[in-house]
This record gives sequence, structure tokens and C-alpha cells, in this order.
Amino acid sequence: MANTILVGAQWGDEGKGKIIDVLTEQADVVVRTQGGNNAGHTVFIGQKKYVLHLIPSGILRKKKTCVIGNGVVVDPIGLVSEIEGLRKIGVKVNGNLFVSETAHVVFPYHRELDAQREVLKGKNKIGTTKRGIGPAYGDKAARVGLRMIDLINAERFEQKLATKIKENNEVLKAFGAKPLSFKEVHKTYREAGNYLRPFVTNTVTLLHQAVRRGDDILFEGAQGTFLDIDHGTYPYVTSSNTTSGGACTGSGVAPNRMDRVVGVLKAYTTRVGEGPLPTESAEIADMLHAMGREFGATTGRARRCGWFDSVATRHATMVNGIDDLAVTNIDGLDTVETIKVCIGYRDGKKKYDYMPNDVEVLARCEPVYAEFPGWRTPTDKARSWKQLPPKCREYLKAIAELTEAKLFIASVGPGREQTIFV
Ligand code: IMP
Ligand code: MG
Repeated sequence: MANTILVGAQWGDEGKGKIIDVLTEQADVVVRTQGGNNAGHTVFIGQKKYVLHLIPSGILRKKKTCVIGNGVVVDPIGLVSEIEGLRKIGVKVNGNLFVSETAHVVFPYHRELDAQREVLKGKNKIGTTKRGIGPAYGDKAARVGLRMIDLINAERFEQKLATKIKENNEVLKAFGAKPLSFKEVHKTYREAGNYLRPFVTNTVTLLHQAVRRGDDILFEGAQGTFLDIDHGTYPYVTSSNTTSGGACTGSGVAPNRMDRVVGVLKAYTTRVGEGPLPTESAEIADMLHAMGREFGATTGRARRCGWFDSVATRHATMVNGIDDLAVTNIDGLDTVETIKVCIGYRDGKKKYDYMPNDVEVLARCEPVYAEFPGWRTPTDKARSWKQLPPKCREYLKAIAELTEAKLFIASVGPGREQTIFV
């Protein structure tokens, strides 16, 4: 399989969890490189549903090494409960999970500040997951964050935490929020630190040993291209680089060691949280929600839905260098009579065949649509390209062509077996 970076080519929730799980079969090592427990990767194995937030989906397969890289922000309490949850259902988490020493730690004051800033923004709020992701990355960039290596060093941790709590309590008070108790935070974080100590290591040298051995490494992206801090619809984005470059900086594996980029996208578009979504449509949202689809894995929020936006996905191919496409949720369109695909934007007289950087302009843009006849046949039982209805194949070929990448996987449901290699 070689070294593969997998990214979301839309606004997150493209079905990366499932595709990663499928591709992991051929990988030796699976690495998370950015984001935190704002992510929610859903994997179905048989009837069993697993939702992972921080731990790479590779953990569900035997004999895979899973790594939480330096680019991730780790909520240690969340990580402990995720490990415990997996162990409770019989998944082995011992000797197969490694956490970077230099990954930054998320604290309760990050979560509280995340919530307070959203309140302050009022109607301009981002619609964050309130997991403290933005403030944690903020501390990292400001060089005032604590890292896993600090968390597992009892003496150093106590000292650094005391300073951090003191400073952040002043800020919380200014927001009119309740200050935190040093004693309480220290106790829970010290316990989590003790629990996590055996997992914490130098993941850069670990990954380089894997590279030298010729292991196949899968870099598991979280969120999606348009939530990228640089390339997304700023400020309605998350605080990390969700595009393929983030896999390098977030792991310490260099660009020339990467072999391939896979982009995951839905056969339509969804977004959770605020910010522009040019193809948003109440019609398709109502239909998908009525089918019980498109509710967030992390926050349970109903996702906003729209038609496939090829202006966006072509942009995603450009900034990620996407080679191959995995199209998911095809079965979600099984009942649609006429399927629309956005092939351009219009803002008054001005036409765009690329995504404007100004979110105010993007929010004003009207999509220009091409129409495709729906196949109106269930696809969830299809197990090969030939078993897909001809109109469905035409649609998939068209969106891949518009996205300027090669169709690689067509996914017709959440199960491992509902995966068609094209
Ligand atoms: P944050 O990452 O919690 O700061 O949220 C920033 C924006 O990214 C919000 O619009 C969230 O809804 C969105 N977001 C964050 N993580 C995910 C994800 O895993 N899937 C989809 N949207 C996400
Ligand atoms: Mg998700």
C-alpha cells in the first residue's frame, strides 16, 4: 500500500473512519497527525458500532501499530476513557498504541475558553465542538502550552500547571466564568498522566524505524479540507492543518517519504457548525435527516447538507495533491430523482470556477448546477462496480472527473463489505 495520506476533501465527516478501517487491512502503522477529540470517526464491524475520537481507527484490527503524533492535541481524560471503553469491549490496547511526547495537552481551561469565546461571538460563533481545540492550539503557537512529556513528569507538571491555572483563572474571571480549582485539575490530570505514561514515547524515531523497515504507513486525517486553518473557510475552521501537509508536520515524516494521497468525499456535501456552504439545500437535508442520516458523531448535532460541490472538491485536489478518491454515502442518493452538482459559483455578474478566499464573498455565491438523472435503485447491496446502476456509475465518473482525481473506492454503506474497489 506504501505510505498513504488520507484526507477529508470536504467539510469533515466524509466517512474517513470507515475508509481508514478498510485501508488499514493492508497497513502496518496508522497515525493520527492533527486535531483532537473534536473528531468522531465511526466504524461498523458487523452490527457493532465504534466511535473513535483520538485513537486511530487502526486499533480495531489486530497487529497494527497506532500512533497519536506530535500534531495532535490530546485531552488526557478523554484518551483514558477511550482506551478504557475499547478494553471493555475486548479491543486490545497494549503495546499497539503510542502517543507522542511532544503532543500538546488540552486542559479544562481550554474547553471553558472555547465555550466563552463562542458566547462572546454571538451570532458570529464558529459552532465549535467545545472540546477546547482552538485555545489548545493557541497556547501551542504562543509557546505557553504543556506537552505530554510535561504531563508524565510529576514534579515538572505540578509546577507548570500551577502557573497555567493562575493565569487562565484571571482570564476566565474576566469572561465572568467560574475559576478552576488547581487541586482538582491537578489530581485528575496526574492520575491520567500516570495511566498514560506507558504509551508516551518519541513517535518520530518510532515512525522512522517503520519507514526504514519499509512498513506501510497510513496517515489518518481528521476533519476536512475546508476546515483547515490555512486553506479552509476562515474563521469558520478548526485550528489545525487538515490538509495533506499536516500529515508531515504532525508526524515528523517528511514529504518525500509519502507515496500517495487519498481524498475521501461524500456523494453530496455536509457541514456541521457555522460558515458558508454554497450548495446547502433544505430539500436534501430534510431527505437525509428523514432517512436517519447525517447526525454528528461527536456532538449529535444535525449536519447541514447540500449537493455535491465540485468547485470545492477540485480545490481540495489542488491543495492536498489528491491522487485517488473514495466516494462514500452513495446510497444516500438512492431515491433522488434529479441530482444536482455544483460546477461553478456566481456572485452577481462575477463567475467563479474556484473558491474565493473571502468568506463573505463565498457566503454570497450562488451555485451553478449541472443535473444528473438519479438511479432510483438501492445500491447498498452492490458489491462490484458492475452491480452499481449505470446512472450511478455515470454520476460517480462525472464527479471524479470534475474533481480531477481518479475514482478508487465507491462506498455504499457503513459496513466493510459495502466497499467497491473501482
Ligand atoms: P473545533 O474544531 O471544535 O474548534 O470546531 C471548529 C469547526 O470545525 C466547527 O464548525 C466544528 O463543527 C468543525 N469540526 C471540528 N471537528 C470536526 C469533525 O471531526 N467533523 C466535522 N466537523 C468538525
Ligand atoms: Mg466525524
